Amino acid sequence: MKGRTETVICGGSNLRAPMKLDFISSLRDVSPGEWPEIVIVRTGNETEPACFVHAEDAGDIFNCIGIVAAPSERLVAMLRTAAVTARPRAFCRNDATVCRADDPEAWGFIAEFEAVDELPLAVSEAISRASERGCGNEAELLDKAAYMTEQGIPQKVIISTFEQMLADPKYPELVPCPAVKFVQSDAYGELTRGLAYRLSGLNLRLIGGKGCGKNTLAQTLDWILNVPQYRMQGNAEMDKLDLLGGPTIENGTLRYKLSDMLRYIEAGADVVLDEGNTIKPECADVLHSLTDEARRIQVPGYGLVKMHPKSSFTITMNEGYAGTNYMNEATIDRFTPIQMSEHESVKEILRRVVPTASEHCLNVCDVVYCAIKSRIDSAGGLEPDAMTIRGLVDALRAEPLLGLRWGLMDNVAAKPQDQYTRLQLTELIESMVP
Ligand SMILES: Nc1ncnc2c1ncn2[C@@H]1O[C@H](COP(=O)(O)OP(=O)(O)OP(=O)(O)O)[C@@H](O)[C@H]1O
Ligand SMILES: [Mg+2]
Repeated sequence: MKGRTETVICGGSNLRAPMKLDFISSLRDVSPGEWPEIVIVRTGNETEPACFVHAEDAGDIFNCIGIVAAPSERLVAMLRTAAVTARPRAFCRNDATVCRADDPEAWGFIAEFEAVDELPLAVSEAISRASERGCGNEAELLDKAAYMTEQGIPQKVIISTFEQMLADPKYPELVPCPAVKFVQSDAYGELTRGLAYRLSGLNLRLIGGKGCGKNTLAQTLDWILNVPQYRMQGNAEMDKLDLLGGPTIENGTLRYKLSDMLRYIEAGADVVLDEGNTIKPECADVLHSLTDEARRIQVPGYGLVKMHPKSSFTITMNEGYAGTNYMNEATIDRFTPIQMSEHESVKEILRRVVPTASEHCLNVCDVVYCAIKSRIDSAGGLEPDAMTIRGLVDALRAEPLLGLRWGLMDNVAAKPQDQYTRLQLTELIESMVP
């Protein structure tokens, strides 16, 4: 096993970390070389890891000396099996900048721990090679490996990911770093399949209802593959000029200006076309020669545009919504469809999206989700538009200020456009959230 040092930022309000100030002042009394080790654990009720002076204190949140801000995938994975020992190294302000012990804004501390790399040797070696090729530093790649492992992605897909990942992307600022990564419900869920298809050079069409995670999945895949993402909103007004570009006059001379889409596709990006089924079929034809074996297009007035070997197209779509069309068979045939599945529970998703939410609130939202889902599934029950994962997320975000009931009433019950559906949802939430 290989070890590597990682840092964490520990702080938090005094309510959440009651002993934080006492601990910080105790550090001021001794020189940094003599600072004691601490332990980081994942406690039952808190979703963010908490720090304690001794492992024995961990059962009592009143002994908490700090909350770990934005824990890495690696740390979260390690905490699943055991507590992690860390050593404070410096004081910091709440923007994570290092400060002196006597700084009145000292808010927490930065601690270091030994991140044990329990990855199989073949994965570790693939990571080292990817890092040497310029796909990112080892810490970033280990984070991706930890996330993929946590999501149950099979090892051969993980190794292939590191082998094929894009090195030195031309537009690094467009490589997504999604705050929330996609959660799949089983090892061959949408994430594994999407990743395997992308690694096989295929283009994806993600199909599912509103807020089911289509763009989160597209962002997560591009983050994993280190590919810049160029996102376009499809609509009925979109025309060939938008997709191909057109002549412009610059300094008195006429020249052809390639569309952004083609510029990015030449440079190794993933072009995400949202609501792909709203665009006119004759516009979608533009994508045909790019998305078949040719991977190139002859642009009249400009010339040949070749697709970069790592570039791809991803279409996201809701089927049967207002303004959507049936797509042309030839377009459909060129994209691998992934039907987004419905989750039995959304607790893990909500936990990732709102890491500060308490276990209790997550449970309440999950019960509300299951109740809405079962009423949609039952004959004569609720309309499908009654479901909104976004609404549950928004309710959880407002919960610390408003409590959960108001958040659910406004963001879930009041959302549908149909009055009867609103009434049914209101009754349901009133009965479940006192
Ligand atoms: N499986 C999932 N994993 C992680 N987050 C998810 C998942 N499903 C839904 N979400 C959360 O739900 C919200 C909506 O997700 P997203 O924008 O990706 O959905 P979408 O399918 O693109 O929606 P729309 O059709 O409305 O564009 C986000 O906060 C996202 O984090
Ligand atoms: Mg979307």
